[in-house]
Amino acid sequence: MTDNPNITLDMNRIPEHIAVIMDGNGRWATERGKERSYGHQAGVETVRRITSECTRLGVKYLTLYTFSTENWNRPADEVAALMGLVLTALEDELFMKNDVRFQVIGDIDRLPEVVQDKLQETIDHTANNKAMTMTIALSYSSRWEITRAVKNISTLVAEGKLKTEDITEELISRNMTTNFMPDPDLLIRTGGELRISNYLLWQIAYSELYFCDTYWPDFAEEDLHKAIASYQNRQRRFGKTEEQVESEEEN
Ligand code: IPE
Ligand code: IPE
Ligand code: MG
Repeated sequence: MTDNPNITLDMNRIPEHIAVIMDGNGRWATERGKERSYGHQAGVETVRRITSECTRLGVKYLTLYTFSTENWNRPADEVAALMGLVLTALEDELFMKNDVRFQVIGDIDRLPEVVQDKLQETIDHTANNKAMTMTIALSYSSRWEITRAVKNISTLVAEGKLKTEDITEELISRNMTTNFMPDPDLLIRTGGELRISNYLLWQIAYSELYFCDTYWPDFAEEDLHKAIASYQNRQRRFGKTEEQVESEEEN
């Protein structure tokens, strides 16, 4: 059920895992004659709203692209503003009120120590929350993650702890930073760009993709419902035929 009479969601087919590329903060601010960081600030509000709505709908995993490896190349003042925002945004209330477990993926060692400490503190405080796992991808890129996995696996082989023939897709998945979550069912990108920008390349092999023009600060609960409705109107075939999938659904 949704509050918009035009969108009817099937509550039995809510995606278990939604991943989001939260894009458009900078343009949202620039169009208002403000600094880009004002857009990031507004984006934090959207994170709060969408996190609450996802728990209400029964989503189990929400994974938010917050800062990419490539974003380190932005002007120093914007990077600093973003780091400051991460610190203030990680308030317990959002997680405790919604029973949300917090996690982070990415090259955390590159972050300022105070941010690293705050992340760990929030992970620890929320470790027993059950309704949903909300993960932020911070200093994250998929190629960084895949490179790291290849290095880890090669080391095991070199040390004789793993045989080459034992390298499976499952083992590779376990060596990804996302090893505690299922692959995304639905990937949403706001802000109008039609690209993946180095996000979860391995994990989105069979995710349904949804792009919308809405800038992230303007992304409302209703926009989330539209994305989920679009997801629910698709048939996920995983390489099989329509007939095969339909007969499986009947059984
Ligand atoms: C996404 O918004 C947030 C981050 C990358 C940190 P942008 O800052 O990329 O906003 P646009 O794309 O410039 O509008
Ligand atoms: C992707 O957005 C990263 C995040 C949303 C955190 P970007 O705005 O950095 O992506 P590109 O550079 O336009 O592809
Ligand atoms: Mg952008």
